[in-house]
Amino acid sequence: MEFPFDLAPVLGERFCVVDQHLRPAGRGGTAKREELEQQLRTVIDELGKASAKAQGLSTPVTSAARMESNRHVLYILRDTRSPKGAVLGFLKVGYKKLFLLDRDGSHVEVEPLCVLDFYIHESQQRRGLGRELFREMLQRERVQPEKLAVDRPSEKLLGFLRKHFGLCDLIPQVNNFVIFEGFFSTRTVPA
Ligand code: ACO
Repeated sequence: MEFPFDLAPVLGERFCVVDQHLRPAGRGGTAKREELEQQLRTVIDELGKASAKAQGLSTPVTSAARMESNRHVLYILRDTRSPKGAVLGFLKVGYKKLFLLDRDGSHVEVEPLCVLDFYIHESQQRRGLGRELFREMLQRERVQPEKLAVDRPSEKLLGFLRKHFGLCDLIPQVNNFVIFEGFFSTRTVPA
């Protein structure tokens, strides 16, 4: 996904992490900074639209405005080899208070890290980029894959989680979130 501006000062390295403050990677005087902020907003809005289109959603789940009003974290992956640096995809996560059902069907109030939006450009899918981005997120957020809740996963995402993380045993829920076996388990530390 290409843009009519250089992505290096906007996104920095291969992985760019953006929170509600929408800070671009590069610095500069006020005018330069405002320009980079506007470019970052454009990148986020375009990624959100592309993801919505890929999922058949009428409204994007991800936009710069939504990022500002939520405490979500966006991981953006870019190709640093092309001249202006194309964007390859993104993953959005955030903590949410949820009532989830455990294996016995009892409601439990939890606040897990949730996978909220995930997209790799159509021309780049099934090349391992989604896994690379997802692993980067797991490492930075210090979370195990089975501890995540996933908001309305597509069939592609369910296949992805099964293939790369062995997540296939769902704990049935009554809301749109999907969790897997291991979500509620606490590891016992050997004495
Ligand atoms: N059909 C079925 N499974 C797929 C497809 C597809 N077209 N694309 C990826 N997968 C799954 C498969 O398990 C695949 O393994 P396989 O090729 O051996 O069958 C595996 O993902 C490939 O892994 P990666 O290459 O690391 O994944 P990729 O870079 O393609 O990224 C992603 C996965 C983000 C789901 C991507 O396919 C995509 O953007 N899909 C369209 C948008 C989408 O569905 N996003 C998730 C929405 S739900 C949410 O965000 C909470």
